[in-house]
Amino acid sequence: MTTTRLAVVTGGIGGIGSAICVRLAQDGHRVVATYHPSEQAKAEEWAAEMSQQGYQIGVAGGDVSSAEDAARMMAHIQEEFGDIDILVNCAGITRDATMKRMEAKNWDLVITTNLNSAFYVTKPVWEGMLERGYGRIINISSLNGQRGQFGQANYSAAKAGMHGLTMTLAQEGAAKGITVNTVSPGYVKTAMTDAIREDIREGIIATLPMKRMALPEEIASAVSFLAAEQQAYITGANIPLNGGFFMH
Ligand code: CAA
Repeated sequence: MTTTRLAVVTGGIGGIGSAICVRLAQDGHRVVATYHPSEQAKAEEWAAEMSQQGYQIGVAGGDVSSAEDAARMMAHIQEEFGDIDILVNCAGITRDATMKRMEAKNWDLVITTNLNSAFYVTKPVWEGMLERGYGRIINISSLNGQRGQFGQANYSAAKAGMHGLTMTLAQEGAAKGITVNTVSPGYVKTAMTDAIREDIREGIIATLPMKRMALPEEIASAVSFLAAEQQAYITGANIPLNGGFFMH
């Protein structure tokens, strides 16, 4: 049986984030999805659509790439919804370019949005989890953080860094009832992979052993597993969800 917990999913209205919110709600948790402040109208529509489907999911706006705004947003969520038991760091962007063409501003943007954000968002909930002796933190990394990817120096570095954070927090939380794990999806059918130039995308799919991308729901299923109370002994793990593309 699952105890109802409060779950926060950053990037919660995106492709993988939405599937995670739905799955955690189906598991019986209360869920809040966070969105970038520029997407307020989209977030309201999304919440209405979720409600029509029978899922009452809260939404909260905040820029996770800013320490101040992330802290403000997480304080607001805790005031409005209560103590956070499950945190899924899912917000992320790409700015792909080869090293030769990658500008420092796009290195910084991706590192800040994909990696620093995990620290900024986790920090305001960490102490409460320690005090209450319970927490489930799941960092959404990537296959490309495990093996690198042509054209993704910034993204691969940020995603690899996320697992370093996971392993450290797993050690710091182990005796306090907090588990911290990474999920590393391969190519997933979302707007992010739709943005890859079609010929390149088709080339990537041809190299995948299953000859298809993952569905967001397949990623959400692993998050659901790790978020459960029963999964008290898996911590510091990096679960690959890449259809057999990369094994180590
Ligand atoms: N390995 C080796 N060489 C490669 C290569 C690869 N994977 N891909 C391209 N090249 C070569 C090309 O053959 C070409 O060679 P020549 O100059 O000798 O002709 C050269 O590199 C330049 O390639 P492009 O024409 O592709 O260069 P570009 O500047 O037009 O585009 C790019 C660069 C934007 C990075 C483009 O290659 C690209 O989009 N690649 C895919 C990156 C990718 O996988 N992104 C994943 C996004 S989804 C995501 O990130 C989610 C997740 O977690 C998985």
